[in-house]
Parts: sequence; C-alpha cells; structure tokens
Amino acid sequence: MATLPLYKQKVVEEIRLISRSERLKSLKRADFNPFMLHSEDIAVDLLTDSGTGALSQEQCAAEEEGDETYCGSKSWRALEHSAKSVLGFPYVIPVHQGRGAEHVVDFVLVKKGSLVPGNAHFDTTKANIEVMGGKPIDCTISEAYDPSSGLPFKGNIDLPRLEKILKKHGTKIPYVLSTITCNQVGGQPVSMKNLKESSALCKKYGIRFFLDVARFAENAYFIKKREKGFGKRSIKSIIDEMMSYADGALMSAKKNALNQSGGLILLRNKELFEILQPYGALFAGGIQYGAMSGKAMASLAVGLKEGVKERYLEYRVAQIEYLGNKLREIGVPIVLPIGGHAVFVNAGEWLPQIRWNLFPGHSLACALYLEGGVRAVEIGSLLENRDPKTRENRRAKWELLRLAIPHRLYVKEHLDYVADVFRKLSEKRSSVRGVEFVRETYPMRHFTSKFRLIKS
Ligand code: F0G
Repeated sequence: MATLPLYKQKVVEEIRLISRSERLKSLKRADFNPFMLHSEDIAVDLLTDSGTGALSQEQCAAEEEGDETYCGSKSWRALEHSAKSVLGFPYVIPVHQGRGAEHVVDFVLVKKGSLVPGNAHFDTTKANIEVMGGKPIDCTISEAYDPSSGLPFKGNIDLPRLEKILKKHGTKIPYVLSTITCNQVGGQPVSMKNLKESSALCKKYGIRFFLDVARFAENAYFIKKREKGFGKRSIKSIIDEMMSYADGALMSAKKNALNQSGGLILLRNKELFEILQPYGALFAGGIQYGAMSGKAMASLAVGLKEGVKERYLEYRVAQIEYLGNKLREIGVPIVLPIGGHAVFVNAGEWLPQIRWNLFPGHSLACALYLEGGVRAVEIGSLLENRDPKTRENRRAKWELLRLAIPHRLYVKEHLDYVADVFRKLSEKRSSVRGVEFVRETYPMRHFTSKFRLIKS
C-alpha cells in the first residue's frame, strides 16, 4: 500500500528545466559557483533545508496577525512562549538567524586563544569562533568519518578525547558545543547517552555545555527510533531530556523550526542572559525582535510546534531515506546511515579522478546542475577553507556533496527526478573535471569565489 503524503498543495510555483546549453551558459555566468545561480534556472534545488521550506496555512494565518511593534510586540511574546514550551529554557534572546546567535555568544565568551571543543562545527560556527581568535576542536568520534560504519549515532562526541582536552585546557574553554544533528558529518544524530555524558564531563570541569539546535527535532526522532529505551517515549519528553543536559542552546530557526528566517539564543542562567542580551540588541536587533519581523516571529511561534510533531518527523526522515536508497540502487556511494536532513554523496569516492584540492564535491555540484538542473552543495575541502595562520588549504576528512531536502517543499516525483539525473551522470562520471579558483575570497570562500573547470 502506497503511503499517503502528509500535505496537499494550496499554493504552487511553476518550475522548469532550461536546455542544456542554457544551463551551461548559466553555470558560466555563475563562474562555476552554484551559489551564484539564479533560481529560475534551477529545476530542483537541494542546496539547503534552511529557510527554503513551505509554510503551513497556520503559519501564513499567524503572519497576517504579525505585530510589528518595535518593543512589546504580541508576536514576540507568542514566540517567547512557544520557544520556552518547546525547548524548555527560561531565557530567550531573539536574533536574525543561527550565525547571529553564534556571533553574540562568541563575541562575549571567546577570547584570543580560547578553545571550543565539540562534535564537528558547522562552517559559520567555526568561522565565528575563529574571527574572535578562538579555535574550534573537532572531537567527533572517529567512526563519523568512516563511510562504511553503520553506527546509529555518528554525531557523538568522543568522550575520552573531550575529557583529555577539558583536563589539559579547562581554563581556555568558554563552552563545549554539541551540534544536534551534526550537519558536517552527514546529518548524523547524537545519542541521549552521549549528551548526558558530555554534560556530566562539562559539569565536572566547571565548563558550560551548549547545544546547536538547528536540527534538534530530527535528532530527537532518531533517538526515539535508534536508542535503546526510547521507543515508547514521546518526542516532547525526549526533547525535554535532551535540553535538560544543556546550559544553553544556539538555534537557527530556519531548519527544524520550519521558518524562513530567525534564530534564538536559549539560556538557563539569568546572569549570562543579562550579559548577552545587550549584545543581541547591538548585533542582531532589539531585545524583542532580534531582526525578525513581527510576521517572522509569529510564523516561527507556530513552526516550532509543527516541527516537533512525530507524524511530520516520520514523513521527513522517510523522504531523505527514499532519496538515499534510490541513489544506492544506482551505485552512488553515500554516507550511511542516511542522515536527518540530507543525503551526503561521497564525491571523493565516486569521482576518484579528481584530487581533493580540485574539490570533487564542488565539481560534482557543477556536473549535476549541468546534467539536470539540480543544485546541491559541497561539504569538503572547499568549505574547510584555509588555516587562518598558515593560509594552507585545509584538507577535509572527506569530500562530500550534500543533497539537502527543504521542508515540505518537494514530493516523491522530484526525488525520482534527482535520482534519474544521477543515473545519467553515472554513465559519464569519469569525464567530470575538477575546478580551480579564478578568484578566491575570504572568509566563507565557498559563497563568493569564482572557479573554472581544469583542462582535461
Ligand atoms: N548550525 C548549523 C548546524 C547549521 O547547519 C547552520 C546553517 C547554522 C548553525 C547557521 O544558521 O544559516 O541560520 O545562520 N546551516 C545552513 C545549511 C546554512 O545549509 O546547512 P543560519
């Protein structure tokens, strides 16, 4: 029996596939940087699950009542209430998006020489720590980088490694960060046990334990499905327990909170809240809007609650698995187990002719667009950037292409189409060429650098 989709379409946007020669023209105009493509030229956009999803009719209705009052807005109070009830922290600071939360927290807490250990940090997370003179330390378990390992919680922090660092450098560590799920290693979840033990270690050494909760609901769903003893627990009680281990959380509201913009800093400690709050006003926006419009806050208040519904999470994770399994059938190597928001193709393995410093993931992104108008993004050595001190290219542990599925936007046919483009590409993958810089920018070079294909 076929599964019933969770939604019906009420508002639609037409998409089309432009011709191959137009796609080539468009890619050249974009200087072989898919970030620079125009949306009208893209058939299926799997660049990101961030702010790209469809809103529900309830979110749209809430937007209509968005209160744009500068201070004292009803929409802010609705959002604050929703955030407290879903995430359980008593203090909330609004910001414009996840990196805004990082900037405020790091500006205050990270000093020159600070260390911030955690599982693999997201690129903006890393960059925000680095611009303050700190150093993120990747303590993800080593199996996270082994594509053949089927471990259910490959986002876990390596606890003995963390303890060693806490013991040796405790005074230099403003906080430890666990990113749930861990985007950089394939959208892999962190187990409850690992959260609990990371938190206990931090307590032992008197160090704050923060969570990056961009994709906390998917993480909770994986705990329910994969971790012993959680199968019968509600998503709400799992989220409550996850959050109970943390001193604070940084949230991009554009992912699991199903909004198109926004972010939050969530805190347990009043004193720290009072220190950080004015910096929210300085860098993001007023303390009761944080650069979100009243409309955005109103729809976020609703999205936070929709994003944690078990029925939705089941549908969401099944969609990612569907695409992942289709790619596996074609013989495309992907990171396993299939993650929570995206399928990660092992481009380094699939395109062995392209050396790491010619960016196999990025080259595959260009080839995929050319083949079928599908946009995706590299997660590899291009994203790793250069070492801020030596200026050498940093070699990523692996070269991936991420196919992120926006929330509630695409249906099975879109995913079948993407798999078909891969099928076509697989016949000619040995001819895919690497890319080199024409102009390299800093920081966040992947957004604005220009490339050309290397000569074959
Ligand atoms: N943390 C994680 C784990 C993220 O994946 C992102 C963004 C951020 C923080 C920053 O949040 O975009 O709201 O400023 N990830 C997007 C992505 C951009 O495509 O994975 P933001």
